[in-house]
Amino acid sequence: MTDSTGFRIDVNGVKSVSEGFRMYIETFGCQMNVNDSEVVASILAREGYAVTPHMEQADLILINTCSVRENAEQRVRGRLNVFRMEKKKRPGVLIGVMGCMAERLKEQLLEEEKAVDLVVGPDAYRELPQLVRNAGTGQKAVNVLLSREETYADISPVRMDRNGVSSFVSIMRGCNNRCTYCIVPYTRGVERSRSPETVLDEIGGLVAAGYKEVTLLGQNVDSYRWKNGNTVSFPRLLETVAAISPALRVRFATSHPKDMTEEVLHVMAAHPNICKSIHLPVQSGSSRLLERMRRRYTREWYLSRIDAIRRILPDCSISTDIIAGFCTETEADHAETLSLMRQVQFDYAFMFKYSERPNTPAAGKMKDDVPENVKSRRLQEIINLQGELSLESKQRFIGKTTEILAESISKKSPDQLSGRNSQNMVTVFPKQRHTTGEYVQVRITGCTPATLQGTAE
Ligand code: SAH
Ligand code: SF4
Ligand code: F3S
Repeated sequence: MTDSTGFRIDVNGVKSVSEGFRMYIETFGCQMNVNDSEVVASILAREGYAVTPHMEQADLILINTCSVRENAEQRVRGRLNVFRMEKKKRPGVLIGVMGCMAERLKEQLLEEEKAVDLVVGPDAYRELPQLVRNAGTGQKAVNVLLSREETYADISPVRMDRNGVSSFVSIMRGCNNRCTYCIVPYTRGVERSRSPETVLDEIGGLVAAGYKEVTLLGQNVDSYRWKNGNTVSFPRLLETVAAISPALRVRFATSHPKDMTEEVLHVMAAHPNICKSIHLPVQSGSSRLLERMRRRYTREWYLSRIDAIRRILPDCSISTDIIAGFCTETEADHAETLSLMRQVQFDYAFMFKYSERPNTPAAGKMKDDVPENVKSRRLQEIINLQGELSLESKQRFIGKTTEILAESISKKSPDQLSGRNSQNMVTVFPKQRHTTGEYVQVRITGCTPATLQGTAE
């Protein structure tokens, strides 16, 4: 631990000159958490902490957590067991839990996980230096206050993505929707947007550092709004980001079917560097269930959004999120989900079994009444169908040439590059003379349900 003069205080309290501290950060959950971990790294860097990829070398082990489903929390508990063992070996090491599980469980986490020294909610990261100092003196530290304003707008995140090509940029935090199954509004607080200036500054910095792609992040980007004289809405922000450089690819997530406007689609159509890929979570194909989920759209409305995308952006890929086995879901509701999937022909989907989350509206008012084996079977049917749809979607590219932004050396072979096309499809191809960060025209020769394969032209 450092005291205010930057000296290291050993566990026995003796000061020694420090070569700097090392922090190890593990991130679970959504892309926003990836970005938050980078914000945390930046806040602690000012205190002399450098990121290490080796847990065994860290003075501070942080885990950024997710509460969205029970199995997300179980994975975190598993990792905490590993960290506890490390602390047995090296009692001086501090362990901190950040993010949504910290927010949900608060002090309870300290009782349940004795090895944990600090618990920090998503809006309290500026307090981390103080909390770490307190924890270093043996005081367990908790700060889980949510804020109406915090967006960490002025903090320039320390990029921990190793490819140096593609990065996430948060444009807003929190969520004002109250989908009945969802914990996010309670762990992340109310929705707030970040000023366009700070967003543009951050992206300008990324471009100067050689980045070629940014993904603008928010739980519901369509409700982005910044008022300061003029109002800046999401389409305006998107347009301004796209104008930074034609060589910068722009992506965004997540769109909400109730709020996505045709204006956004027209902005996408007007800018070749805005990637033609939309993540539009449907959750269920049954209007009755959508109502119980409080999604505030119907099956018909969702399909009308799909029609608008197809009309304005004929080459756009569409991905989604689907929940199987939400409260009262019948076989007929489930069949409607499958039929909607077929009708839309999603290119990709994240598919989940409903997991009741404590203190959500659904947990309070509805019975989690679909038996586990039925949930599993329905999820499997959804996964199987999506497997077919994903394969068909990839097969449509065979024989065509598509522009890939090369992001990394393929995990499977050092001679292959891996990147994505505008439609967000992972593509691998022989490296030849190309390198990461380059746009490459790739002729697609084959595919699996997950990946396109091809050769550079
Ligand atoms: N803001 C985004 C998604 C946030 S959470 C949106 O509105 O769509 C990511 C996904 O997790 C959700 O789309 C949903 O499919 C899933 N999810 C959220 N809560 C869940 C729960 N209790 N059980 C299962 N899946 C859940
Ligand atoms: Fe959760 Fe709904 Fe908000 Fe998405 S929009 S984060 S699903 S409450
Ligand atoms: Fe999980 Fe929190 Fe993201 S619950 S999905 S880490 S906002």
